Amino acid sequence: MPYYRRVGQIPRKRHTQFRSPAGSLYAEELMGVEGFSSDSALLYHRHLPTAIVDAQAVPDFRGSLTANHPLKPRHFRSQELKWESPADVDAVTGRRTLFGNSDVTIAFAAATTPSPLYRNAAGDELLYVQAGSGVVETIYGALEVGAGDYLVIPTSATYRVLPSGELRLLILEATGHIGPPRRYLSTKGQFLEHAPYCERDLRGPTEPMLAEGTDVDVLVRHRAGLTRYTYANHPFDVVGWDGCLYPWVFNIRDFEPITGRVHQPPPVHQTFEGPNFVVCSFCPRKVDYHPDAIPVPYNHANVDSDELMFYVGGNYEARKGSGIGIGSLSLHPAGFTHGPQPGAAEASIGADYFDETAVMVDTFRPLDLGEAADACEDPRYAWTWAQRGPD
Ligand SMILES: [Fe+2]
Repeated sequence: MPYYRRVGQIPRKRHTQFRSPAGSLYAEELMGVEGFSSDSALLYHRHLPTAIVDAQAVPDFRGSLTANHPLKPRHFRSQELKWESPADVDAVTGRRTLFGNSDVTIAFAAATTPSPLYRNAAGDELLYVQAGSGVVETIYGALEVGAGDYLVIPTSATYRVLPSGELRLLILEATGHIGPPRRYLSTKGQFLEHAPYCERDLRGPTEPMLAEGTDVDVLVRHRAGLTRYTYANHPFDVVGWDGCLYPWVFNIRDFEPITGRVHQPPPVHQTFEGPNFVVCSFCPRKVDYHPDAIPVPYNHANVDSDELMFYVGGNYEARKGSGIGIGSLSLHPAGFTHGPQPGAAEASIGADYFDETAVMVDTFRPLDLGEAADACEDPRYAWTWAQRGPD
């Protein structure tokens, strides 16, 4: 997170005595990435953040992955995913794995009930709200989220998700850190003038998140699996914190598209970078204004990446006629040249505006397929360009 924030009560000097009104010392905790060499926050707890009374191994709900083999462009319809008990799906244990590799796991949840307290100690998470609303309570404070919000949750930040109705989430679990593209930041971390969004577009916690309780369970994802810790006291006991490491929200509607006379390549849509992947936002925008421009993309072979596109609003012009709708995900892997559906290039000529919203994840290692992908695949997609297949 690029800039400093302060919430609640903190002492004037770090690492000095800071006491409750009753006179007891608050427990200071440094949450820092890259050892002590990068962004961090100092948090002040009412209780020791170290006091656990139990630790139990928990079976992993992630499931296994299979390779995209035979290699095919694929289409998945998250809108057709079904849960056994739809009224009892939470955003942590109810998330179902769509895709994954050693850098990132991509899951989907249609959450309807509060999640357990959860901490991903293996990497940052990025939650994209496709639809619905809710509150995400974190150790840093609560954040309200709604459609179009990206929520970045730093590694090891304890949180839980409380949906209001159904909250449809695309969830990226990285094995490292997720942040704005470095090329959009100054050496000191401020967004530069050519960035498509800036500090004014971000939301962070504003008040401490305080809860009471003893023997409180927290589900922890770590590098070896899942463990359930039982804490002596509720982990939401931070009276104040400051620093540059905290959860934050950015809404896709605040992304200011970069346009040109001829087609602009996907990096102009980049919104986040993670370990060996990028996330881009395709937003409603004026399109290419050269008199002879073809507004839809040219065919392209991204030889080093798999491209996943999540269609969340409007009409995606290049995919007309392919069966893709709101909630669909297309996967165009390295080794397959992809491009607009037949006729889309001709049909786009003369357009001056595209009303489309999509989230793209490009991974630099191949994406394997999870159980949820298998459950909602449209098997006809690979043959939609030729308009005939092996059947
Ligand atoms: Fe592409």
